[in-house]
Amino acid sequence: MLTKALKGRDFISLMDFNKEELETIFDVAFNLKRKVALGEPQDNLLKNKTLAMIFANPSTRTRTSFEAAMTQLGGHAQFHTPEVMQIAHHETWIDTARVLDRYVDGIMIRMYGLEKYGQAREILKLMSANANIPLFNALDDKEHPFQIMADIMTMIEKLGPNWKSKKIVMSWAYSGRVKSAGVPQTMAIAASLLGMNLTLAYPEKYDVDPEYMAFANNAAEKSGAKINIVHDVFDAAKDADVIYAKSWGSFLMTKEEDTEYRKQFKEDWKISRKHFDLAKKQAIFMHCLPADRNLEVTDEIIDGPMSVVYDEAENRLHTEKAILALSMK
Ligand code: CP
Repeated sequence: MLTKALKGRDFISLMDFNKEELETIFDVAFNLKRKVALGEPQDNLLKNKTLAMIFANPSTRTRTSFEAAMTQLGGHAQFHTPEVMQIAHHETWIDTARVLDRYVDGIMIRMYGLEKYGQAREILKLMSANANIPLFNALDDKEHPFQIMADIMTMIEKLGPNWKSKKIVMSWAYSGRVKSAGVPQTMAIAASLLGMNLTLAYPEKYDVDPEYMAFANNAAEKSGAKINIVHDVFDAAKDADVIYAKSWGSFLMTKEEDTEYRKQFKEDWKISRKHFDLAKKQAIFMHCLPADRNLEVTDEIIDGPMSVVYDEAENRLHTEKAILALSMK
C-alpha cells in the first residue's frame, strides 16, 4: 500500500502506473465501499474541492458516478460540454486548461471519435501540460482506464483469492456501431501489469493498437501474466471464468468497410448460452455497458444469474472515488 504515490498525478493511461500503485487504488476503493455499506462519512476527503468534467461525447454511468463520487467525498463536480464552452468559438484547449487550472482542483475529460485515432489523446496531454492539477481520462480514443479499474475490482470480488489465475476472456462482439477499442486495450495493459490470465478473442482484422500489445507483452514477461489472442470465440469460451463482451472497430478498415465486413460474425460473436455452455459452471458475464442487447449479448445472458454488469457499474463509483481522493487530496 502506497500513501503518496498518486498525489497530484494524472490518470490518463494505465501505462503510467505500476502494479503496486494499481493495488493501492483497489485497497482504497474497497475501504471506501465498506464505509458506504456502514454509513460512515467520507465527506472530509475532498471537502471544498471542485472537479471540472468536460464531456465531448455522451455518457450515463461516467457522468453520474463522477458527480456522485465528488458529492460523497465532500466536493463538487461541474458538468461541461464543448458546445457551451468557448471551445465552440475556437478558444484553444491550452487556454481552456490554463483558465480551469485557476478555478478547480481536477479536470476530467471524455473525448473520442475525432478525425484521427490518437487526436483526442493529444488534446488530453496538451491540457495536462497546461494545468498544474490532475487530469482524468474518462474515455478517449485509446483507453478507458476508469472502466477497467472498476472491472478488475469486480473480478476481485467475484472470483475469489485466486482471481489473477482465472481465465478472463475479453471477446469482441457484434454491434451495428463501430466503437472504440479503448476497453480491450486498457484491459491488456492492466492484465499485463497485474499478472492476470487474459484471452483476447476477436475475428481476424480486429487487432488492437500494436503499441498496446507491445507494452502488454513486455510487461507480461516481468509480471508472469498470460496474454493470449484467439480468433475463434468458441475456443476462447472453453473453461472461461469470465466472458466479457465488447464490440470494437477495426484499425484496418474504414467504418463503411468494417460495418459490412462484420456482418458475417453477427451470430457466432453474440455472447449467448452456447458460449456459457463451454465456460466453467460458475463463469460470470461482464460488460462495461451500455450493451447492444441481442447483438453483443443475448437478454438471457445479460439478465441471467451469471451477469454481474450492475455490480460492475456500481464499482465505477468506488474506484473513481479512490482515484480522485488519492490524486486530488
Ligand atoms: N461504461 C461507460 O463508460 O458508460 P457511459 O458511456 O454511460 O459513461
